[in-house]
Amino acid sequence: MRFTHHIFMCINQRPKGDPRGCCANNGSEQLQKFFKQEVERLGLKGTVRANKAGCLDHCSFGPTVVIYPEGIWYWVGSEKDVTEIMERYILKGEIVDRLLIPD
Ligand code: FES
Repeated sequence: MRFTHHIFMCINQRPKGDPRGCCANNGSEQLQKFFKQEVERLGLKGTVRANKAGCLDHCSFGPTVVIYPEGIWYWVGSEKDVTEIMERYILKGEIVDRLLIPD
């Protein structure tokens, strides 16, 4: 099966107090589940895949996602952000500027 998009969300967990921080301590596991729910809600199952990822090396921006094939990076802070990425970027190809992680 071929997917149009893969959404990889970091769910890496580090001990609290680790100076590098981590996405899991900022709610990324719940947000990754919500990406999956949104894929279903929008009827994209089989077309778009929401995957868990280990550290994506953008820890200070976390929770972090990278979406392929474009290789676009977003910071995702809430379920509202997930919905905006799904409805604007995945469905329409619009860049969600306010959530972009700079190169
Ligand atoms: S811990 Fe999430 S990008 Fe490193």
